[in-house]
Amino acid sequence: MKPLLIVANFKSHFTLLGSKEWFEEFRVKSSKLKIQDKKIIVCPPFTLLQFFKEFIDREKLPIELGAQNISRLPEGAYTGEVNGAQIKDFAKYVIVGHSERRRAFGEDESVVEEKIKMSLEYSLTPILCVQNEESRIPNEVSITAYEPTFAIGTGKPDTPENAQIVAKKIQDRSQVKRVLYGGSVTGENVNRFTSMENISGVLVGTESLDPLKFLEIIKNA
Ligand code: PGA
Repeated sequence: MKPLLIVANFKSHFTLLGSKEWFEEFRVKSSKLKIQDKKIIVCPPFTLLQFFKEFIDREKLPIELGAQNISRLPEGAYTGEVNGAQIKDFAKYVIVGHSERRRAFGEDESVVEEKIKMSLEYSLTPILCVQNEESRIPNEVSITAYEPTFAIGTGKPDTPENAQIVAKKIQDRSQVKRVLYGGSVTGENVNRFTSMENISGVLVGTESLDPLKFLEIIKNA
């Protein structure tokens, strides 16, 4: 089941300057950390994917890249959309179905399913965010993140015990190989989640914006 997946979701944060500072600090401090048994995936905004990829390749950092969103449509006349082929140039993963996209951008189950299909068509691995154990999980999905909305950005995480119950239910009724937990994860609480039998990583928002806090999460996971 393990290695653990530690996923950073930068959301709509960072410009080029800010992300250079993040990486520089991460690069210096991460060199002292043993992270072989953990897979780190960073999901920056689209505008920074190219810079991140070049920096990671040049510095040989142990980081893989993900996108935070994908167009449900292929290449074509769709103003403002970023399609799977374009993402594939830089990233291996894509977050789909985040509750912020469901709430603020009206993405319903059918849109989420189209986005999963598009991800797979371009050999991107979707990380499907689900808000509870009943959310629909298509058979092709191998990674889900259980992210209860009350815990996102609130500083009030779910209990590790409840997250474990939900993660187990998800695994019992689907084909997913890994269930991550997301919602107010910190360096202090991360290990209580990752030590649960059915939780194989975390999705981190707020605390990933500070490289030192993110490294603390990686270290303690
Ligand atoms: P948070 O966000 O860590 O700020 O709670 C998690 C997420 O939205 O994935």
